[in-house]
Amino acid sequence: MKKLLSCVRQANTTNIYLLSRSKFYFVKFLIMSNTENYRNVQYSTSQSPKNDLSKYGGMNNKDWDQLWRDQSTPWDTKQASPILKHLVETIYQDRADIKHALVPGCGNGYDVDTLSALKSVETVVGLDISETAIASANSKKTQFQYGNPNKVQFVCQDFFTLDKKFDIIFDYTFLCALPISLREAWAHQMKKLLNYKDNANAELVTLIFPLVKRTNTGDLDTDITKGPPYILSYPLVEKLLVDVGFENIEQYNVPTQFSHPARANNEIIARWRVKKVSKL
Ligand SMILES: C[S@@+](CC[C@H](N)C(=O)[O-])C[C@H]1O[C@@H](n2cnc3c(N)ncnc32)[C@H](O)[C@@H]1O
Repeated sequence: MKKLLSCVRQANTTNIYLLSRSKFYFVKFLIMSNTENYRNVQYSTSQSPKNDLSKYGGMNNKDWDQLWRDQSTPWDTKQASPILKHLVETIYQDRADIKHALVPGCGNGYDVDTLSALKSVETVVGLDISETAIASANSKKTQFQYGNPNKVQFVCQDFFTLDKKFDIIFDYTFLCALPISLREAWAHQMKKLLNYKDNANAELVTLIFPLVKRTNTGDLDTDITKGPPYILSYPLVEKLLVDVGFENIEQYNVPTQFSHPARANNEIIARWRVKKVSKL
């Protein structure tokens, strides 16, 4: 009986913890969605010793699945990223080399739908560590109206264990959701997953959000451990990727009409390729 009571108490504590934490993320998303861009600030890409991440505990697959089961998904805009649609309709539609695409941390899979509209594409993998997210994405597959659901595969797996090659990878609200200690591993894994040895044009597209902002006192907010989701900046992503051999092809502030309204002026699109190594 005592054991049973202690289990119930423990379960309640976990629920309260997750509930209050999901409210915290929601407020953070609202604040972040209304802030300015500060793209030229330099940030450390690793955890500063004075900032103890352990208080956030990092997010593991059970935490994510719990949020999905509780329907505490404030990041879910219920629509595909307008800037990705724009890129698909302009620069990617005529690219014959894009055969396999990946959206890590795909959630409900709206961006997976978008990429499946590419003429050349054969498979688009939407990957998520949460079984509930994958079940939800699969249930929405038939409602996708933009792309081709027959080309879509939703897979429940940890990004860091995936072992396949892709011609295009789209990261949106995925890097910002990972514990800071995994950022270098994220960059290495992105390089490993990109089909750059067989396709010189293979690319990683990062839609960088949420961006670093100013504090109430007007100073730049350099506390990058206020997560998750952890705030990002262009220099931070650039350092992570350049360090493992990527080069930037293009980057710009997302024009307002191509952002979700609540995220306008708070997103940067950046496209990356693995740098060719001279054989001389
Ligand atoms: C902030 S949410 C963003 C979801 C989606 N990109 C969107 O914009 O709606 C981050 C997602 O990444 C997933 N995730 C977290 N860690 C993961 C990992 N290691 N491998 C795969 N998915 C992961 C979570 O389950 C969650 O669905």
